[in-house]
Formats: sequence, C-alpha cells, structure tokens
Amino acid sequence: MSDPPELPFGDYYRLIYAKGLAGERPELPVSWAGLENAAFEALDELARGYVFGSAGTEDTARANADAFRRWRIVPRMLRDVTTRTLATTVLRQDLVAPVMLAPIGVQGIVHADGELAAARGAGEVGLGLIASTVADHSLEEIAAAHGDAPHWFQLYWPNDPEIAASMVARAEAAGYGAIVLTVDNAIPGWKPRDLEQAYLPGAHAKGIANYLADPAFRARLRDPDDQGEAIGLFITVFPNAALTWDDLDWLREVTDLPILLKGVLHPDDALEARERGVNGLIVSTHGGRQVDGAIGSLDALPDVVDAVGDDLAILLDSGVRSGADAFKALALGADAALLGRPYIWGMALAGATGVETVIRMFLAELDLTMALSGATSPAQIERGLLRRDLG
Ligand code: FNR
Repeated sequence: MSDPPELPFGDYYRLIYAKGLAGERPELPVSWAGLENAAFEALDELARGYVFGSAGTEDTARANADAFRRWRIVPRMLRDVTTRTLATTVLRQDLVAPVMLAPIGVQGIVHADGELAAARGAGEVGLGLIASTVADHSLEEIAAAHGDAPHWFQLYWPNDPEIAASMVARAEAAGYGAIVLTVDNAIPGWKPRDLEQAYLPGAHAKGIANYLADPAFRARLRDPDDQGEAIGLFITVFPNAALTWDDLDWLREVTDLPILLKGVLHPDDALEARERGVNGLIVSTHGGRQVDGAIGSLDALPDVVDAVGDDLAILLDSGVRSGADAFKALALGADAALLGRPYIWGMALAGATGVETVIRMFLAELDLTMALSGATSPAQIERGLLRRDLG
C-alpha cells in the first residue's frame, strides 16, 4: 500500500507562493498550454512526431478535447471542505488519487531515462502507473524504479502464445497488480506525422526492451545478440489482428491478476467484456491515434458506465489535460482517469522531476476543483455536479 500524502494535494500552491517569497519561480510552465508548447520545442523532430501525432486528420484527438469542453461543472457552495482526500480504491488496490499514468511507449526517445523517469516521478508522489509493453526499459526495472504504489502491466498481446504467457508471468513476478490488454492497436493506426518521417520506433530497436529481456522471445532467436534478427522477430510477433473475444479465456487461464481491456468505446463491447469475466475497462481512443473519426472518449463514457459501471472498474483516458477534466470524467462515472501526454511533456523538459511536477500540478488542480465544487472525496464527485453545455 502506498503512503498517504502528508498534505492535501491542493496545498501545492502554498509551496509555489512560499518559494516566490524567496524570489523563486516554478521551473516548468504552470499552464498546460505553456507546458505543451515548451515540450514541443524541446523534442527533436522524430520524438515530436511520435508524441504529438494522432491518426488521420487528427479529428478524434480534437474530439477528445472538445468532449471535455461540452461538459461544465456547476459547483456547490458552503460545504465544509477542510478535510478531504483524493484517495480511492480501484480493483481493491489503494490509489493516492483517482489518477494513474497511461501506458505510453518508447519513452527513451523523449528522455534518456525514459520509463524510469516516469516511474520515479510517479513513485515520488505514490501515484499508480500502467507500464507499456513497448518500453525502453524492462518491466522489472520499471517496477523497481516505481516502488510500492500500484503498477499495472499493459499487454500488447504478441501473436506467439509462449511469448505472451512469458510476459504475463514476468509481470506477475515483478508485482504488477493487473493486466491491461490494449484492444485498439492490433495493427498500428495511420499516423501521418510518423509516416512523413518514415519512422517506426520498433524498426530502430526502440521500445523493444521487454522483448529483449524475455526468455521466450530470446529462445526464438538463432543469435540472441543479433539486433537485426531481434527487430525482425519483434515486427513479426507484434501485430495480432486475429485476436477475438474467445482468446480472453486463454489469458484468464494464464493469470490470476485482474484483467482490464483498454480501448473499449462501444457499450455492446462493454457488455461482452462483462460476459467474458473481464474486471475493468479503459474507455479510450488511444489519444486519437487509432480510428480517426472515432467518438471522443468522454462522449463514449456515459453509455459504457450505464451498461456495466456497477460491475466493472471503469477508467478513462484521451484528452485529459487538467484537474478539471479528470473531475468531469469522475463525475460521469469513471473510477479513475489516466494522465497521458502531459506527463511526457514534463519528462521532455526535466526527466523524473518534470514528471513529478506535472503530477503534482495535476493533482493540485483536481483537489482544488473538487474542494471548490463542494466535494471532499472522489465518491462525492457525481453526475449532478455537471451540466451539458448546449451553447
Ligand atoms: C500511447 N498510448 C499507448 N497505449 C498503450 O496501451 N500502449 C502504448 O504503448 C501506448 N503508447 C503510446 C505512445 C504515445 C506517444 C501516445 C501519445 C499514446 C495511448 C495512451 O495509453 C493513452 O491512451 C493516450 O495517451 C491518451 O490520450 P492523451 O490524453 O495522451 O492525448
């Protein structure tokens, strides 16, 4: 179990103003737009295309953001909000806040420390994270860098069952508390910014540390030290367009960990998932990187919550850019929101410290939004605090 925070997360502003008395200004931009712009400038061309790019016309990336703008908070007043907590429980795991870091691949192209920077930054705050399969550090190293807070393993299910089983077993052994099966990326989406640069990270041996460290993967190689052969095998085993609901039975058999499906948008898929014994869903458009034209995640959330929200843990990502956005997702029935690109912006600017700062700013905003709306815990963030803005 992670340590409880010493002070409400919202008190972070006090620290900033206290430093101001000593003439210090925050090292990173505080506004989310300022942070995004600074990261855009800081990254090289390839990393910029990979991190900022979405599929097709990037219409769904915009739809994700627009969906948040259409819901407005109607705060309640004169409720004692002195004592409050962001702490919550998801799938019987204690979280310091209803927020986790989204799995983002290939972080080594953003910062030399890559996923370890994310894990250390989150670990400093005790925030949970979801580690991607396509990482530049192994899942074992990431777990060790993260510490005691809950970490879950995001699985890109390789089309070789022995490698899949081996990765799941390693995640269990390393203390991961759930398997997050990403179901919207069996084939990579059409991402013009990457295509324009003819850049596929895996083809350059980026994001394949979990494969190189995997005994079942290595056993398939004639020469385990031949990088070219390893890249070829990675490209062969990665795509898995043949996956179906029936395959979930196999996954259920190889692990006792809770299983979440990431990338579900349709309420009928949510019902099917419940039927199949899945434990949780992440409502997500993969940051608009898969189906261009897809519904914004927040717009898909209410139907999924209405279908299965009483039985399954429901998380949401895609377009979460502020504490207020997380508040809206919680109010519409999510148990937690995933923070995606913004923590990568922090990493691009200042490694682990940048990730920690972004998390602290994000949680401060969420805590203050909650308090100023008259709620003292995530359970009190309910639908009645939102109105759909029709204007
Ligand atoms: C992702 N995402 C992702 N998802 C996943 O399951 N495994 C992965 O390896 C990756 N890799 C990845 C790389 C990059 C650069 C991005 C931006 C996203 C999707 C991620 O988990 C999450 O769904 C999105 O980041 C949410 O969108 P926003 O809020 O970041 O725009």
